[in-house]
Amino acid sequence: MTVTEHPFDSDAMDGVRALLRDASSVVILSGAGVSAESGVPTFRGPGGLWRSHRPEELATPGAFRGDPRLVWEWYAWRRERVSECAPNPGHRAVAAWQLARSGVYVVTQNVDGLHERAMLEALGETDGGGAPRPEVLPLELHGSLFRVRCTQCSYRQPHRGPVDASSLSTLPTCPRCASLLRPDVVWFGEALDPRVLSRAFELARRADVCLVVGTSAVVHPAASVPLATLEGGGRIVEVNPDPTPLSESAWVAIRGPSGEVLPALLSSDARGG
Ligand code: OAD
Repeated sequence: MTVTEHPFDSDAMDGVRALLRDASSVVILSGAGVSAESGVPTFRGPGGLWRSHRPEELATPGAFRGDPRLVWEWYAWRRERVSECAPNPGHRAVAAWQLARSGVYVVTQNVDGLHERAMLEALGETDGGGAPRPEVLPLELHGSLFRVRCTQCSYRQPHRGPVDASSLSTLPTCPRCASLLRPDVVWFGEALDPRVLSRAFELARRADVCLVVGTSAVVHPAASVPLATLEGGGRIVEVNPDPTPLSESAWVAIRGPSGEVLPALLSSDARGG
């Protein structure tokens, strides 16, 4: 394992650029840290959401059954907060790189939608906003703040508007069966969508490189995705200011903020044309 910190070692950075350039398939596994420079709070760092809120009171099925208004109030606040944020140079470098070549897949634990917003912005700039190839849209392992699903039936829809969580009677309800709608996110104690999960592992197994960005790598099964790349004979590159349990398995660990490191690795200037 090579570790490089500011000022980054140019041999290590060139090595990673060459590895990425020559790879036929790359999975980018991202976590809350990739959105930190957009102003979205992480979960476990200083100022992290789980420092000031108890997950079991807000992010479990039991919490929602017990007090759906309180849980919705928290998600309405997070939606508002994320809506005020914009993709940062890290998200934008990833989106531009995906459009510049094939075989790059984003698998994210984030529910903030910022990878997708960066992609839609990049598409708008390059070809007038055509519909994205499915390959360039992120696989969202933990769901999305901007989708809802019914607590009783199979109804599931994008939902971007404000949610009035001032009382139980103002919470959003299902247009099909009138039951309460809930955020379409994965809560503690819930399983991930098996189709999304098996696609993520299949992509990781086939990838030559798994670029692991901004995740503390402690929440499984997401944190096991890079191990599938190792099992398949590929390499892990980590971008994170701090070490994680995955660092020891990384070919190179780049200790820096993703808003700076990703453009340095992926932009066309960095690639040399
Ligand atoms: P965490 O909050 O656990 O970890 C954020 C990571 O980002 C840490 O390792 C930081 O060192 C790193 N970081 C901070 N600033 C960064 C920057 N500018 N650039 C790069 N990295 C930076 O977030 P996750 O690992 O994403 O799950 O958390 C995983 C899951 O735990 C979340 O998806 C959520 C949470 O409970 C669910 O809600 C199901």
